[in-house]
Amino acid sequence: MAGLLAGLQCWTASAKPEPTDLIDRQHCMFCHTIDAPFLAPSFRQIAERYRDQPNASVMLEHKLRKGGRAHWGDTPMPSPSERGGPISQQDARTLVQWVLSQ
Ligand code: HEC
Repeated sequence: MAGLLAGLQCWTASAKPEPTDLIDRQHCMFCHTIDAPFLAPSFRQIAERYRDQPNASVMLEHKLRKGGRAHWGDTPMPSPSERGGPISQQDARTLVQWVLSQ
């Protein structure tokens, strides 16, 4: 685990190791896929949209934890309590960094 976190902290252009536990616990793949838009935009679309926005990760972490206005259509993402339980700031950051690395 320490190695995984260390790896996540250094930003590189290559894909990050997948935080599988978190993704399972929050059922991310119930609505998202990596590359095919389904019930929600694909993680690749999301990464492309936000890659060049320096503040995007802060906004997305907040959104993952507290929810917020929809950016892709009329359907906002369900709040963490509806997805499987609250997530910590650190977990939100791990997930957002992973999504943005797709
Ligand atoms: C019940 C379906 C569902 C689940 C489960 C879900 N999402 Fe989403 N997600 C959506 C929808 C719908 C949108 C589009 C919302 C919008 O328009 O901003 C979205 C948008 C997003 C966005 C982009 C937000 C923005 O403001 O552009 C990110 C990042 C994201 N999801 C990550 C995740 C992660 C990480 C998980 C697991 C922790 C997850 N999602 C679980 C449905 C879901």
